[in-house]
Amino acid sequence: MLTTSVSAKGVTVIGATFPLMFERLRVRRCYYQRSFSSGSSTPDRVIWPIGSSTIVPMHYLDHAASTPVLPEAIEAMLPFLADHPGNPSGGHRAAQEAKTALEEARENIAALLGCRAAEIVFTGSGTEADNLAVKGSARARRHLGDGVVTTAFEHKGVLASAHRLASEGFRIYEAAVTSGGIIDLDQLADLLDERTVVVSVMLVNNEVGTVQPLDKVTAVVRERAPNACLHTDAVQAVPWIDVATATSGCDLVAISGHKFGGPKGMGVLIVRDGTDLRPDIEGGGQERGLRSGTVNVAGAIALATALRITQERRGGELIRIAALRDRLWDGIHVALPETRVNGDVAAKVAGNLHVCFPGIEAEVLLLMLDQRGIAAAAGSSCSSGATEPSYVLKAMGMSREDALASVRFSLGVASTDADVDACIAIVPELVRGLRERTVVNA
Ligand SMILES: Cc1ncc(COP(=O)(O)O)c(C=O)c1O
Repeated sequence: MLTTSVSAKGVTVIGATFPLMFERLRVRRCYYQRSFSSGSSTPDRVIWPIGSSTIVPMHYLDHAASTPVLPEAIEAMLPFLADHPGNPSGGHRAAQEAKTALEEARENIAALLGCRAAEIVFTGSGTEADNLAVKGSARARRHLGDGVVTTAFEHKGVLASAHRLASEGFRIYEAAVTSGGIIDLDQLADLLDERTVVVSVMLVNNEVGTVQPLDKVTAVVRERAPNACLHTDAVQAVPWIDVATATSGCDLVAISGHKFGGPKGMGVLIVRDGTDLRPDIEGGGQERGLRSGTVNVAGAIALATALRITQERRGGELIRIAALRDRLWDGIHVALPETRVNGDVAAKVAGNLHVCFPGIEAEVLLLMLDQRGIAAAAGSSCSSGATEPSYVLKAMGMSREDALASVRFSLGVASTDADVDACIAIVPELVRGLRERTVVNA
């Protein structure tokens, strides 16, 4: 028998049916309390509980894949996991409590993202938000045309949706990107006409971290494609950019909670007034009939909290994280002068460092880094493990060899000096070792 009680101070566990689970939560809470309660937003190191009794230090440099849930977000969502069972669609008091909390979260998110509460549609992920945006708007505008225009380096949530539309008779065009990882605006302009019904251009690329010139994209779309609906995948942008301002000219905007301290499995699509959409998921008609399924109330509350805190702390965090990222690059580059940064440095968000280590296999390096307690990634997290080079790097014109030799270090809220020190100490040593092995085996 397990009894939990939730208080402002946290979770108290009486009984031990799930001791491991709560031990992890306890360790995590200790970490956060120690790290943040001193008034600093900067933790000194991440304690990552793994296995039943082992606690290993982990240098987590994969924030673009996912971020730790902020303690305030956990605190805010716990009552709606433990104490409030109501389904927000129901009629009784418990249901209404859930509904009230959900609508408050919606209002808060809308205020932070610069839209009206009625324009917020909760989804089960950023991928789902992209699917609804691209397929839903194209299908709703079929009578106006058949052109769907995107870029060659969008997230698969957009690209796979576009390819699905191709099988329904839409014409799909992917605008090229430069070697620096920026959309080719001239080519985009050439692909647009009055038969274009959807344009989808991401705000920040998930692999190389480059910010796209969305204001220029918006201007050219409005001028050349009067019947088009403009979607942006802003999933990677929230920690770094004022999304409300950057996306103000777009009809549809996708974000995802777990990229900025909210839980996984919680997305938002802003659907501006007057934007027609066909639902992708049908059922009970929740979310104005645009996305059926019981909304994750706890997740929406946590997302709203994480969004607020991320925006409040952004100014200081941008400076802190950019300094860490630059020190990491200097350390790697001094030790390994042949390394190169992928993507235009001036256009990158503060947390992204994407490095090509010529002559090594990134997948092997990543396995060795993992054994030494460093978590980084090759390509997007969704396609890591694949032996094919990243389609994003290929779209930027990189050779197969260089693409397969590239690693993404992505820093964020949990990043510390200790992470950077560990990387500077370990990465060059492993890269040199891999090179020597390659020479001996040649
Ligand atoms: C740019 C971009 N779009 C969409 C997604 C998908 O978001 P989610 O993980 O919530 O499905 C991701 C996740 O990596 C992303 O980086």
